[in-house]
Amino acid sequence: MRFIAPSLLSANFAHLADEIQLLNNSQADWIHLDIMDGQFVPNISFGLPIVKTVRKLTSKPLDVHLMIVHPENYIKAFAEAGADILTLHYEAVIHLHRTINQIKDEGLKAGVVLNPHTPISLLEDIIKELDLVLLMSVNPGFGGQKFIEQTYTKITKLRELALKNDHDLMIEVDGGVTLENAPKLFSAGADILVAGNTVFAADDPCRMIERLKKGDLERG
Ligand code: DX5
Ligand code: ZN
Repeated sequence: MRFIAPSLLSANFAHLADEIQLLNNSQADWIHLDIMDGQFVPNISFGLPIVKTVRKLTSKPLDVHLMIVHPENYIKAFAEAGADILTLHYEAVIHLHRTINQIKDEGLKAGVVLNPHTPISLLEDIIKELDLVLLMSVNPGFGGQKFIEQTYTKITKLRELALKNDHDLMIEVDGGVTLENAPKLFSAGADILVAGNTVFAADDPCRMIERLKKGDLERG
């Protein structure tokens, strides 16, 4: 699959309803929501009230990326707020197997996020439980950062691990996605690309989503 999940972090929050409307009228597949607590990452973004608000404004799946400590304490709250996909960081969870199953018990898709330095091999004994893995291609915390090239190798390794386990896994990549690297990421095996700055700083965000999806480097 070739999904684009625009990250709301780069949207204009003074016009949130308009921004969501724009995404509703676009080819965006999921809407990516970055939850930051100022503890797990050195930035604070937004929380449950925004997720609830966005839920009322769209029927697109909400892809909620938790960059918080103790994410296990908030699974029910984010499920009730309207999340469809919940991802949490490998680096933030002690009892990952239990936590992943808590997410699935809420009827949501469950995923693990790996920071750029966290090796794929750590997922060997949990991969079969996962609907998706989100690979961070920047250090989490901020939009508009530079893409880390090692991500391509990680996508390949992750796909190999999934195949070895005969497991149908979605691979998502988050951070520094551009028109230039999007086609390469899809061909390397990514299924979903998150894009914040590239979408919302574009003159025509709708057209940008379309181009990212097609791998269209042509202008216009
Ligand atoms: C970073 C977030 C990303 C961010 C991506 O911590 O997880 O989702 O919004 O933004 P860009 O696409 O601008 O790198
Ligand atoms: Zn994110």
